[in-house]
Amino acid sequence: MSIRYDATQRIFRLETNHTTYQMQVGPVGHLLHLYYGRPVPDALGYRLLPRDCGFSPNPYDLREHRGWSLDTLPQEYSSADNGDFRCPSLEVRTASGMRGSDLRYVTHEISKGKYALSGLPAAFDRDDTCETLSVTLKDAATGLEAELLYGVFAAEDVIARAVRIKNAGTEPMTLHRVASACLDLPFGSWELLHFHGRHCMERQPERRPLLHGVQTISSNRGASSHQHNPFLMLCAPETTEDTGECIGVMPVYSGGHRTDVELDQSGSVRVVTGISDAGFAWQLSPGETFTAPEVLLSFTPSGLTALSQTFHRFLRRNLCRSKFSQQPRPVLVNSWEAAYFDFDADRILSIARGAKELGADLLVLDDGWFGRRSHDKTSLGDWTPDEGKLPGGLEPLVRAVNDLGLQFGLWIEPEMVSEDSDLYRAHPDWALTVPGRKPAMSRDQLVLDLSRPEVSDWIFETIAGLLRAHNITYIKWDMNRSLTDVFSRALPPERQGETAHRWVLGLYEILERLTAEFPDVLFEGCAGGGGRFDAGMLAYVPQIWCSDNTDPYSRIAIQYGTSFGYPASAVGAHVSASPNHQTGRRTPLSSRAAAAMAGMLGYELDPGKLSEDEKAEIRRQIADYREFAPLIQLGDHYRLGTSAWMFASPERDRALVTVTVPAPEGNPRPLHLRLKGLDPEKYYAISRIRYFGCEIEPAPLQGVYSGAALLYAGLTLPQLYGNLPGAQLLLEQTEAL
Ligand code: GLA
Repeated sequence: MSIRYDATQRIFRLETNHTTYQMQVGPVGHLLHLYYGRPVPDALGYRLLPRDCGFSPNPYDLREHRGWSLDTLPQEYSSADNGDFRCPSLEVRTASGMRGSDLRYVTHEISKGKYALSGLPAAFDRDDTCETLSVTLKDAATGLEAELLYGVFAAEDVIARAVRIKNAGTEPMTLHRVASACLDLPFGSWELLHFHGRHCMERQPERRPLLHGVQTISSNRGASSHQHNPFLMLCAPETTEDTGECIGVMPVYSGGHRTDVELDQSGSVRVVTGISDAGFAWQLSPGETFTAPEVLLSFTPSGLTALSQTFHRFLRRNLCRSKFSQQPRPVLVNSWEAAYFDFDADRILSIARGAKELGADLLVLDDGWFGRRSHDKTSLGDWTPDEGKLPGGLEPLVRAVNDLGLQFGLWIEPEMVSEDSDLYRAHPDWALTVPGRKPAMSRDQLVLDLSRPEVSDWIFETIAGLLRAHNITYIKWDMNRSLTDVFSRALPPERQGETAHRWVLGLYEILERLTAEFPDVLFEGCAGGGGRFDAGMLAYVPQIWCSDNTDPYSRIAIQYGTSFGYPASAVGAHVSASPNHQTGRRTPLSSRAAAAMAGMLGYELDPGKLSEDEKAEIRRQIADYREFAPLIQLGDHYRLGTSAWMFASPERDRALVTVTVPAPEGNPRPLHLRLKGLDPEKYYAISRIRYFGCEIEPAPLQGVYSGAALLYAGLTLPQLYGNLPGAQLLLEQTEAL
């Protein structure tokens, strides 16, 4: 039993293997948060001693008790205009102008299994061990009901939360903000670790103390964005990778999002997280329900790495439904940086032949194959092959690629339309544009209105048609601009504030239908690289193109930041040509491969331009990768610093360690590393070492070490000189010497 209710004290206790979460129904029905942290056996009722705080109002029925204020007490779901002046989870206005709500406990239910959210991605109960708590709160004046959902994954140490808002009143209301969760932390000192960035430089970690007031991590771009990833951690100031308390908050949502972190007058911290309220206004008629997306919470006292690993495992096992989340991925060669728009069938076939020679499994035909797409100003929406480039369409090419013994994959950007396209000429109203105003353009394209069922049907049929007609086993699903001019020609004026969220629901519906009909197709997400790298997408696609930047110097930094929330199995990572097309930097092929082997490996270059030596090197890289892949994809990931990492098998019998030196110095100090994730009782042999990027051949390194020696004393590597030099070591359990 991971959920218990103590009816005397009216306390809910949610227990995972290593955490306790408690809340209590207060004297007049407010649902108060008590605790989230290490396991405690006691019911912590009345721990929150009310205190009289000037200018913090009291609920009317508790006006004799000046200490009882919603402004100071921690709550499970905050609201506006009811005496709590901190961040609201809910903002509502009824037709008669009432604002705010006073939510009080009505009932609850504890059930086996995990709740489901209609139309939204959500974690699932892989092992039949999850339990659900549903608590219904009600605002008597408006009739609004908030059903707070808690999915308790005990073994995984994750609590999933979501909210259903029902209009159980008699007059229409408009929701202006509906958060998925509110987490009040009444005690402790916390820092915020979040992941900001930009196109080609996504998910850069930034850790800072909380300041009084509200710190907001958000995207109002219609997508989760390159700029602010919808994942954050709160950690105690002393928390390190290996020790200390921290909490992870991960919305399962791919659209605009908003997380407020507020440090209030009492020193308490409130986190309110959910969909972006920028322009949001959802009409809710009597009897209707609105469902706010899921958010995943996890706590650990054991440092950032432990928290990351919890999310890694959970996303792989309990969120991503694709069979590929557990199965080996193909090593692919992608045509984009090899040919851009400049190709015909022969050119693609010659890349495919080269890919086969390198030992790859899959050839991906990227942008440029459809309409008259010889540049990026045209043809999105016209998903019929360009006969000029591909005579006879896709089929002869797919067959020829298959005949080489390769799978065939295809790029598509289904959510978009070019102004210069037959689709736009036929259906100008299918694009998001504001009547009477020229839309903001981005990459010369517009966004299709996915809130319209006929548009999402058309997208589904178009992609399903391609997949039914051809032997396509992989789709790269791209999305290359943010949403602006968010106006739907199909919605009435009073519903325009619903467009952005309905758009995301439309996207999820298409993904749901496609992944259900084509479970054997590997879908890879992409949005100009990592502009939509989030748990919502990962429910449908097992991997996402992490960044358009494949320069290993940058990529190592991007993948480092990404690793805090997301597993390597979610990271699409390619070796591209040198000099790099994004940064102009030259790097050795071996260093590029070492960086790409922290994710799902691919190549994005023209094999025809490789020397025989380079081809041989790539064949060896791919052979190595196939051997390492189970560790990388399903092993435990450890950050050993910003530019060194390792994967260890759950059985602790194998590990792959990668160390890079981004800025080699003259007369370098010894490179010394304490490893992680090994068993101190076991012995390990360095069964393989690959140096990369080294201009001067390093001294050999081999031997057998105890796990204890590698963990506590560490390993000293030879001096490494070169251009992003480093070493990749495979450790395998062996007998003691
Ligand atoms: C985006 C993607 C790239 C490539 C191009 C094609 O930028 O991130 O990988 O597919 O689009 O236009």
